[in-house]
Amino acid sequence: MVCLGNICRSPLAEGILRSKIVAENLPVEVDSAGTSDYHIGEPPDKRSSANALAHGIDLSSLRGRQFTVKDFDDFDKIFVMDTSNYGNIIGLARNVNDRKKVELILNASFPNGNRSVPDPYFGGEEGFEHVFQLLDEACNNIIKQLKSDLGKTK
Ligand code: 4NP
Repeated sequence: MVCLGNICRSPLAEGILRSKIVAENLPVEVDSAGTSDYHIGEPPDKRSSANALAHGIDLSSLRGRQFTVKDFDDFDKIFVMDTSNYGNIIGLARNVNDRKKVELILNASFPNGNRSVPDPYFGGEEGFEHVFQLLDEACNNIIKQLKSDLGKTK
């Protein structure tokens, strides 16, 4: 899960997807990172943490980190929050295999829609709930796809 700062959207996406992976008992790992180095080592934004907690998800152990090229080796899918993140991550891709891993997360809900998760950083609390609802729905669809993919490899 990738956004700009790794303190608002992508930690929320990480927490939401992890809670569903645990609930479904799937053998899948999830992590998050930012394209920028602005918030390395910092906990998630208080508004993201409060929103997640209101939905029963604890983000307190998460810390900001910056995306690195090694993430292309460590992960099968790289979900980016917006088109700017998409351009930045595609710009780091070394080959077609790296590029194939990168997907706008809202395409899980709106196929080929190429929609962005709005950046809630400069807005109010309500922006965070809107982001939560978008990410929760996208993660439900990602879980369905993961279950289908895992079934095929059994
Ligand atoms: P995020 O939000 O990319 O969802 O973590 C932001 C966090 C920090 C900044 C921008 C967006 N910033 O400019 O510091």
